[in-house]
Amino acid sequence: METKEIKVSGPIGVFDSGYGGLTVLREIARRLPGYDYLYLGDNARAPYGTRSFDIVYRFTLEAVKYLFDCGCHLVVLACNTASAKALRTIQQVDLPRLAPDRRVLGVIRPTVEVLPALTRTGHIGVFGTPGTIASRSYDMEIAKLHPTLSCRGQACPMWVPLVENGEADGEGADYFVKKYVDRLMCDDEMIDTVILGCTHYPLLASKIQKYLPAGVRAVSQGEIVAGSLADYLARHPEIECRCSAGGEIKYVTTEDAAKFDGLASMFMGKEIKSTQIVL
Ligand code: DGL
Repeated sequence: METKEIKVSGPIGVFDSGYGGLTVLREIARRLPGYDYLYLGDNARAPYGTRSFDIVYRFTLEAVKYLFDCGCHLVVLACNTASAKALRTIQQVDLPRLAPDRRVLGVIRPTVEVLPALTRTGHIGVFGTPGTIASRSYDMEIAKLHPTLSCRGQACPMWVPLVENGEADGEGADYFVKKYVDRLMCDDEMIDTVILGCTHYPLLASKIQKYLPAGVRAVSQGEIVAGSLADYLARHPEIECRCSAGGEIKYVTTEDAAKFDGLASMFMGKEIKSTQIVL
């Protein structure tokens, strides 16, 4: 089905499988407070990280179409799994036929772009969902942009469920954080920079940092993606002029709205009122 081209401006769409993208939205809204944003969390179908390529692609495309129908001209996939498994196909196959004037951006490339400024040893670690790590998207992007850097990935299948269930600060989280941190550092003890390559992981950042050896820095993506988006809008006035500027943030979720609001309010540090939608 064709998405109708609407010429008026609309909010910037921010999409994640669940709550994780809020860690990106928070930084984007802090950096670019003048724009309107529409956040979509597909909480009813999260986590995406253990799902197959085809399913993540199908779910992500449904979300992008929904955000386009709401008037978004620019959508940020604030989800590494969706960026790894769906972004390229959406950009190359779906956008040209559905909405050639609209744009969908991801979080992997902006993160990889800044790496040389962060590492001294040139050894990078990536924590991600099983889907992101299996896709080897970080390895490929790093090899393309910075061939002298080395990259080791570690899948952390238990971290998203801990966050989605409000257990990020619980004692049980320590066990699983230490387990995956130790595995990565055993793999390459020269690593000095670790990408939190899943937008849920900043919620575990203090625990992750606690178990990393001294001198190894865990890097969250929120500020990096916000900086990259600011730069993108400055370089693309034809997209920027179609981003409405009322300074308002709206939230929609595929799960129960009251359930979303409780945890989302904690993530955002303010009261959130969302609406439930069906994709
Ligand atoms: N927050 C997402 C990511 O950045 C996905 C987590 C999930 O749904 O598994 O990968």
